[in-house]
Amino acid sequence: MAATVSDLLLDWYDAHARDLPWRARPGEPAPDPYRVWLSEVMLQQTTVAAVKPYFAAFTTRWPSVEALAAAPEADVMAAWAGLGYYSRARNLVKCAAAVAERGGFPETEAGLRELPGLGAYTAAAIAAIAFGERAVVVDANVERVVARLFAVEEPLPAARKAIRQRADEVTPDDRAGDFAQAMMDLGATICTARDPKCLLCPLSEVCEGRAAGDPARLPIKAAKKPK
Ligand code: ADE
Repeated sequence: MAATVSDLLLDWYDAHARDLPWRARPGEPAPDPYRVWLSEVMLQQTTVAAVKPYFAAFTTRWPSVEALAAAPEADVMAAWAGLGYYSRARNLVKCAAAVAERGGFPETEAGLRELPGLGAYTAAAIAAIAFGERAVVVDANVERVVARLFAVEEPLPAARKAIRQRADEVTPDDRAGDFAQAMMDLGATICTARDPKCLLCPLSEVCEGRAAGDPARLPIKAAKKPK
């Protein structure tokens, strides 16, 4: 199953990947870690459409992590205005300083985890996308795709461990960055929360959630505790 899922998904990605400004086009070398880092931080609580103009403005004004590290924090905060979740911008400045200080981004997931203000998801995403490491990248989109693919009945958040394990099992040794972004694209465009488009899905033949009949009900979310 492992080979099949990644082969099906990567073939689909080769034909249907979204053309996004922080991505390499097919056949191009992996994108600069600065651009990957910046885009992943911006995308954490914000949609692709909202991020695009901010990503363009930041990379034009500060084309490298060194340039960003040299900027006054107030300028970065002002440029971030409108994106929300301002702790992300403060962490961005902190992290840029640390990266500039050490002379560039660490090239492994473990090394990236040691940077200030950079979390587990972002470390895995940069390691996979910029450096080709076989890191397991799980965001909310990936969680939904994996929960359906393997018909995970356990509710979130308890299911996170099992979902991560399943995601690890299907992550290929090669092209882990493309695989991660393919999972994200699939979750954003086809395996959507309310209305999965299974007829268009490259994984429909191997999807256990679909075989069970009603993939849209997955992942199950634990009832909120009464306050
Ligand atoms: N959401 C978060 N990171 C992403 C990426 N690299 N591509 C598409 N959507 C994303």
